[in-house]
Amino acid sequence: MFYSEAKVIAGGLAHIPIVIGVFYFILTFFNKRALEFDESNKSKKPEAKKVIESKTESKPVVTVKSESPKTVKKKHADVPVNIYRPKTPFEGTVTGNYSLLKEGAIGRVNHITFDLKESDPFLNYVEGQSIGIMPAGEDANGKPHKLRLYSIASTRHGDDFQGNTVSLCVRQLQYEKDGETVNGVCSTYLCDIKPGDKVKITGPVGKEMLLPEEEDSNIVMLATGTGIAPMRAYLRRMFEATEKEKNKWNFKGKAWLFMGAPKSANLLYEEDLQRYLENYPDNFKYTKAISREQQNSKGGRMYIQDRVLESANELFKMIEDEKTHIYLCGLKGMEPGIDEAMTKAAEEKGLNWSELRPQLKKAGRWHVETY
Ligand code: FAD
Ligand code: A2P
Repeated sequence: MFYSEAKVIAGGLAHIPIVIGVFYFILTFFNKRALEFDESNKSKKPEAKKVIESKTESKPVVTVKSESPKTVKKKHADVPVNIYRPKTPFEGTVTGNYSLLKEGAIGRVNHITFDLKESDPFLNYVEGQSIGIMPAGEDANGKPHKLRLYSIASTRHGDDFQGNTVSLCVRQLQYEKDGETVNGVCSTYLCDIKPGDKVKITGPVGKEMLLPEEEDSNIVMLATGTGIAPMRAYLRRMFEATEKEKNKWNFKGKAWLFMGAPKSANLLYEEDLQRYLENYPDNFKYTKAISREQQNSKGGRMYIQDRVLESANELFKMIEDEKTHIYLCGLKGMEPGIDEAMTKAAEEKGLNWSELRPQLKKAGRWHVETY
């Protein structure tokens, strides 16, 4: 009796996997159908487009195709981030540290290179990212200094094209307080380090300033001071012969750099930029705003926003092209000025910058990294 009941129960239990299997099959089938339905509907839908139209018919139209945040995320999924964190930084060796300034320049700006060969896992990065530097020593509370971020100024192949270094462009922070000169902790540490020194590095971080993959994109760059760092990497990727051989990225678009510096002697990487102008006159344009040597139309210091206004027409023609990306890097203080200039420039074209800018941002075409 007991044996036969047990047999019935065991027989019943034996059906459970079969029942689960049938349910699983039905569920998978319907899910697949639902996905197929969704995908086919998606491809039927017209692409999401946002159009800014002026009120009168004669005014221009700028079309901004928006990219969903999911698409952007997916696009940059293979970009490395946080390979090294503050608790376990990589100790890179300094291979070079030299001034980028000419005689008569204001302040101190250095180009600094670190060897990454020994990093395991390898600290790789792409153009437009930043790394963290943890300065040696302790703060006023006896705690280790916190890391500071610096935009990477080299391409992923490094300045020597061997693919195992990273370079920065660092201005020493200096300001007066109570009659005394205060030196920034990390920027002074970096400007003072010597080849052979070991430096704690974290990162890489950042996906805001990445270049588009399309070879025919147009790249407008607005930089003040060390804000040139990521732009230097972009321009090397576009125009430096050995770099081009390595990266197989045949840039065919237009690159336009607006560069703000206090004096001519403060212009950074000037020889390289002049060489690119000579070699690629159809692809590279370089507009300088030398604040303490040139004057704007009101007799004030010439800033990049003044240059933007002067070039409003040409610039907006480029922005109308959906292949154009705009990158801003450097002083945080330039943002309101750039916004004001873009507002005026847009008005001249019958456009509304406060509507257009968020659309460009959403489309992944307006990139800002200021500090
Ligand atoms: P700190 O010792 O940290 O001193 C800074 C502090 O000093 C400020 O927080 C403020 O409290 C005070 N201070 C500053 N100026 C004044 C003033 N005029 N009057 C009174 N107090 C003042 N820097 C570069 O040089 N190159 C780069 O490529 C670069 N890229 C960056 C990228 C990103 C994403 C970010 C966020 C920052 C970047 N910076 C870059 C800035 C860098 O991270 C540091 O902030 C900078 O070097 C100053 O650090 P410090 O340790 O020398 O100064
Ligand atoms: P200035 O310092 O003459 O006022 P650097 O980092 O080498 O000092 O260069 C920064 C450049 O940006 C300088 O020419 C500086 O001019 C300029 N600048 C300063 N404030 C602004 C601002 N609000 N908008 C645009 N450019 C600025």
